[in-house]
Amino acid sequence: MIHAAELIRRKRDGEPLSSDELAELVLAYARGDVPDYQMAAFCMAVYFRGLNGNETFALTDAMIRSGETIELGAALGRKVVDKHSTGGVGDKTSLAVGPIVAACQVPFGKMSGRGLGHTGGTLDKLESIPGFRVELTTDEFLQQVREVGLAIIGQSANLVPADKLLYGLRDVTATVDNVSLIAASIMSKKIAAGADAIVLDVKVGDGAFMKTVEDARELAGMMLELGRHAGREVVCVLTDMDQPLGYAVGNALEIRETIATLKGEGPPDFTELVLGASAHLLALSDLGIDEEEGRDRAAAAVQDGTALATYERWIAAQGGDPREAALPMAPEVRQVLAPTKGFVRSIGATAVGMAALRLGAGRQTKDDAIDHAVGIRCLMKRGDAVAAGEVLAEVHACDDESAKQAEAEVLVAYELADEAPAARPIVLETIA
Ligand code: URA
Repeated sequence: MIHAAELIRRKRDGEPLSSDELAELVLAYARGDVPDYQMAAFCMAVYFRGLNGNETFALTDAMIRSGETIELGAALGRKVVDKHSTGGVGDKTSLAVGPIVAACQVPFGKMSGRGLGHTGGTLDKLESIPGFRVELTTDEFLQQVREVGLAIIGQSANLVPADKLLYGLRDVTATVDNVSLIAASIMSKKIAAGADAIVLDVKVGDGAFMKTVEDARELAGMMLELGRHAGREVVCVLTDMDQPLGYAVGNALEIRETIATLKGEGPPDFTELVLGASAHLLALSDLGIDEEEGRDRAAAAVQDGTALATYERWIAAQGGDPREAALPMAPEVRQVLAPTKGFVRSIGATAVGMAALRLGAGRQTKDDAIDHAVGIRCLMKRGDAVAAGEVLAEVHACDDESAKQAEAEVLVAYELADEAPAARPIVLETIA
């Protein structure tokens, strides 16, 4: 019989737990034998007290053991690559990287999550596509990666069910931004889904869970260790999340931007990140090429249309309608105008993410429904010169009232200055 309250008390008081205790707690929670309120209290204790290295390994291991695992590489007879982001605002990178990598003949099988806090989730974005199914059985997943070269799925009841439950709980209990909880959540999914090589996009800055490069390095180090322990090759890229990535923040808007990027018409920062991540994945694959060649092939797949064609095949294979015209559109579009002339000095990514969430693009409680059509497009980015009255951003809303509210929030998120800020690259550091 598990004594959850006792384990919560001990963690609250800063005592380390044994691997067996952590495993028992996590597995009991996944079985439904520990209620949400106790697990939420436990997560809050972890948030304040942290987990040591052994505890983080034990947590990750227990989460993996809560469900089945897939030997993707062995099943396909190929080295399979995967990528994951620690979560950001406007982060639709996987949606573009997957088709590019698959178009370059490298299988890409990925398990993704939903929106967490002010950050969006790949699954929510995909569900803005009419008909798209994020829950495939393991057999369907394998078959699709084999036949289409690409599948992105959610945590089904079978794969890492503990993370599925914990993820939803942490989202609404202010317990997301803990290094160990994030590392265990991400790496349990990556290891269980069976990819051999993984690129981890560790976001840094205002809109990320890791606000400083030092914290991001700590998270990267922990995930590298977890990956190595499980015999996977891992590369971490630390990338800028001080402003939203690309222009679009919000589910269907981000799918539109993904399609534009696959046509070679994406925002510069997003395109750079997508090509860079694709190059890493191709270099890690069994193609036997280096990163430079990987980047050339990724760029060529965009240019010759094979990346877009792969996207369309993938979406259709998972039941979705790949046409851009099929995506939902918000009835209200409101422009956010620059109050003065100047240069965009910063765009508070969290503020934009929260404004999108309040419009309905994310969840405030676990069971909230999402409005896939709403969101924000930040058309002016850091360093851009703007004239007074010029359009900074667009708010896509379900009604006039929420549009006005978001307009005010987005205006506050934009900081204008007399001089352009120093340029900051999208990729800050690579750790392998
Ligand atoms: N992404 C995940 O999958 N889990 C987290 O905890 C944060 C980002």
